[in-house]
Amino acid sequence: MNLPIILMIAPGNTPFMRPRVIVNCAMSPDGKIAGTERRQLRISSPEDMERVRELRSQCQAILVGAGTILADDPHLTVKGLPRDAQALRVVLDPRGKVPETALVLDGRASTLMVTTEDCARTYPGAEVARLGRGAIDLGALLNLLERRGVSSLLVEGGGETIYSFFRWGLVDVYSVFVGDFVIGGREAPTPVDGEGFRTGEHVPLRLVSVERLGGGVHLTYEVRRDG
Ligand SMILES: NC(=O)c1ccc[n+]([C@@H]2O[C@H](COP(=O)([O-])OP(=O)(O)OC[C@H]3O[C@@H](n4cnc5c(N)ncnc54)[C@H](OP(=O)(O)O)[C@@H]3O)[C@@H](O)[C@H]2O)c1
Repeated sequence: MNLPIILMIAPGNTPFMRPRVIVNCAMSPDGKIAGTERRQLRISSPEDMERVRELRSQCQAILVGAGTILADDPHLTVKGLPRDAQALRVVLDPRGKVPETALVLDGRASTLMVTTEDCARTYPGAEVARLGRGAIDLGALLNLLERRGVSSLLVEGGGETIYSFFRWGLVDVYSVFVGDFVIGGREAPTPVDGEGFRTGEHVPLRLVSVERLGGGVHLTYEVRRDG
């Protein structure tokens, strides 16, 4: 389950190992992960929050994009676990927008901030990796994480970041909790935003489990690589 995965990349088809990538998020039955004001909403049931706590404690790294840090200011830690047992917190912040006051920089767990190569930003108490020009090279990031002993990476959002991982073909498991209230709004974020996939490029999934958790349902899919 937690074995690293060999990924073939161009140019030169150089093989490298990468962690298993699990995307996890919570959405409303109408497919929104937040409202149009893009603020954090409690979509998960208490039972789902317990599941996420368990999932976080099984992964060696937890990743979000800068948009989620700016909107929600999450800790990305598991309550009750000592610092040494916490997952590495990873933030995609290509242009250095995350403020020094962000809770992800609070020292309660190790943090890796990821920028593009042309961004000189530093962060108090956090490591920085500068990967890629224009956009962050997610393949290089996964390779770096694998070399640091990360065998499972949990990607928690938001929609732009999850789209990037799907776009790069780097998602292994898509796990989504569907809550019990409608959010609505054409501008409200969804689990997978970005530019979207054209017909013929859609990402094929295989449903592997369905579980009722309180007032909602948890769905787990694997990404199909069998064509
Ligand atoms: N319900 C849930 O489970 C859940 C979970 C998390 C977040 N959310 C919600 O999601 C919303 C935020 O989502 P979002 O899509 O706006 O933000 P996001 O995905 O957290 O962050 C997007 C930003 O991350 C950077 N980024 C992502 N992928 C990149 C890549 N491959 N290369 C370079 N940079 C990359 C970019 O930063 P730059 O803008 O600097 O280029 C991008 O704009 C909030 O409303 C939050 O409440 C919901």
